[in-house]
Amino acid sequence: MLRRLETSSETPDTSMNHPPKVWLITGISRGLGLELARAVLAKGDLVIGTARSGKTPLPPETGRLHVLPLDLTVPAKARKIVEIAHSIHGRLDVVVNNAGYGLLGAIEECSPEEFARLFDVNFFGPLHLIQAVLPILREQRSGHIVNLSSIAGVAPGAGSGLYAASKFALEGMSQVLAQEVKPLGIKVTVVEPGVFRTDFLDPTSIHNASSVIPDYASTSGKTIAYLDQLAGKQQGDPVKAAEAIIRVVESPEPPLQLLLGSDALNRAQARFDERAEEIKQWHSVTTGTDLPASA
Ligand SMILES: NC(=O)c1ccc[n+]([C@@H]2O[C@H](COP(=O)([O-])OP(=O)(O)OC[C@H]3O[C@@H](n4cnc5c(N)ncnc54)[C@H](OP(=O)(O)O)[C@@H]3O)[C@@H](O)[C@H]2O)c1
Repeated sequence: MLRRLETSSETPDTSMNHPPKVWLITGISRGLGLELARAVLAKGDLVIGTARSGKTPLPPETGRLHVLPLDLTVPAKARKIVEIAHSIHGRLDVVVNNAGYGLLGAIEECSPEEFARLFDVNFFGPLHLIQAVLPILREQRSGHIVNLSSIAGVAPGAGSGLYAASKFALEGMSQVLAQEVKPLGIKVTVVEPGVFRTDFLDPTSIHNASSVIPDYASTSGKTIAYLDQLAGKQQGDPVKAAEAIIRVVESPEPPLQLLLGSDALNRAQARFDERAEEIKQWHSVTTGTDLPASA
């Protein structure tokens, strides 16, 4: 099962003055996971990556890169992967739940099979992995869990409701996890990318709901058409996303949530402003439900 890559063709950055960190990254076959694994290896750290095929295009590295096969459609398999990953170097320092995919379609259009699979890969897989890794990180009294969410997990739009729901679940769980593990020396960061030029919008990754209801043409249908023509033209650079994630992991005070890309920033800001305005407008109704102080 374990594929150890034997020869080296990349020169690590040996200028670092700390021992190499051990990273466990899911989904290093392509996209953001691949670029992150590449950048982590280039700076001299160790990578244990997962890929459905057990393969990655990365050049072989003497003992510094291990690739394990993992398909998150059976999310509990993530537990076994943690056990194998931990046995390789005897520690895990950074755990990145990166593997995931998008499901497009109006909420009514997505079938139970489609949304169950989506949640297995985008939420239950990471949850199993996190639960399996926590005893190791607690024992170490150190570690950083990085979960790849999305701008859809902050400011969702029509046509991405269930994808957004899977990322909101990841966001909510991560926010609480951060509070629970902080006293134990463990950090948690949720990364919220906008559109990045990976295979994410390619038919090999993105899934469209199998049923199409004409009534949703002007909402969900419009988003799907927009994203379809955006494939291959996204403004986000996956290499820079990888650099940003490394910067966060190296920071003594990493953020709980990190937006990536100016499109993500603009969408999030618009959503926060809308929410602030709505809170202001409905303030008296919100506070009007309290029992009197004397009750
Ligand atoms: N790129 C964007 O615009 C964007 C925006 C917001 C959030 N994100 C998030 O960023 C993460 C990485 O996406 P990406 O842009 O790098 O997309 P990508 O290029 O499509 O890569 C997705 C990765 O996830 C893996 N994966 C998919 N289904 C899997 C499954 N059932 N089991 C295990 N691995 C699976 C893929 O493996 P295979 O090669 O085997 O398919 C691949 O390694 C995802 O969580 C995504 O939701 C991306």
